[in-house]
Amino acid sequence: MLKYHSLAFIIAATLLLGGCNSPSSNQTDNQSTSDSMSSISSVVFGQLPDGQIVNLYTLRSKSGTEIKITNYGGIITHWTAPDNAGVFEDIVLGYDTLGGYLKDTPYFGAIVGRYGNRIAKGKFTIDGKTYELAINNAPNHLHGGKIGFDKAVWEAKTIDAENALQLSYVSKDGEEGFPGALTCTVLYKLTDEGALEITYTATTDKPTVVNLTNHTYFNLTGEAKNDILGHELTLNADRFLPVDAGLIPTGELRAVQGTPFDFTKSIKIGAGINNVQNEQIKLGGGYDHCWLINRPTQNTDSLVLAAIAHDPGSGRVLEAFTTEPALQFYTGNFLNGGITGKNNTKYEKRCAFCLETQHYPDSPNQPQFPSVVLRPGQTYRTKTVYKLSVKK
Ligand code: BGC
Repeated sequence: MLKYHSLAFIIAATLLLGGCNSPSSNQTDNQSTSDSMSSISSVVFGQLPDGQIVNLYTLRSKSGTEIKITNYGGIITHWTAPDNAGVFEDIVLGYDTLGGYLKDTPYFGAIVGRYGNRIAKGKFTIDGKTYELAINNAPNHLHGGKIGFDKAVWEAKTIDAENALQLSYVSKDGEEGFPGALTCTVLYKLTDEGALEITYTATTDKPTVVNLTNHTYFNLTGEAKNDILGHELTLNADRFLPVDAGLIPTGELRAVQGTPFDFTKSIKIGAGINNVQNEQIKLGGGYDHCWLINRPTQNTDSLVLAAIAHDPGSGRVLEAFTTEPALQFYTGNFLNGGITGKNNTKYEKRCAFCLETQHYPDSPNQPQFPSVVLRPGQTYRTKTVYKLSVKK
């Protein structure tokens, strides 16, 4: 069963994030507000081959952070955050123009859906009926298929009073093979302190599966100056999911202790990433696995701190809080310098990492995993918060 909005959720969010949940504006936001106020503005980002125009929205926080998001794929294209000297730099990978995202992108910054990560052989069964999905990562289905939510044009609405951008999309019954028309909303809200809160909701008219996430590639050094192997990472997870050669979970929940997957105490991402003596590092080509977030069992839909990443050079710290049970930690192993991104930067192998909060990959075929089935009358609701700070 999926998660529902609850009192526990609200209390936990408020306790964990202090002021982060408070609406960021008793001021009226618009383009002309001063730098010290939160605001949202928008410009045209470009035109799709079918003539549709998509926009680029800029959310600014009182603290000076700027996040740019396009309603094409709900993609976070830019995100500035200060280093320990107060210098703001961009901490996410992407392209300068819409054209880059249309040509080829490994899901830079995008909303991923209807199902984040892989479904084995692109097949699953609900209530005795088997569905066949688009195969776009042979022999498996990945990240929603050939035209996933990352390539959809989302209807956008700015909510100035909350410094938030609301994106909505209705995925048709049968789209990429999934049953049921799925009505989705993703709310991006930038707090005064510069934390990004992402709330995902969805309803369906037929039983279906849902697993939404965001695929931002972070590099806390700023402007992707260096790789991410020197970042220190802590994951609040005692177990991870080993995978097979097609990166499908084998079904085992394995203890991280004594393996290169143990980030329960802060260690450099680079410390164990090349340890190919470890069969799982070898299969993933580095880290491309799902960690099971530790959480108190009675309070399953509260926000918990899942990950902390720290770049000692810049002092930037990124914390990820989520209501989700798991996190796919991916270290950009498939980047190979073939993509030239923002400011003419070549994105080399492991020049970024993703913290994709979600349910487990291939859950539709692994009944022992938490369920991802959504039925008519139910509301899917999950929340993830990315919070930036600096360590002096
Ligand atoms: C997957 C990787 C994949 C990457 C880009 C990650 O979520 O786990 O295997 O290559 O997304 O598609």
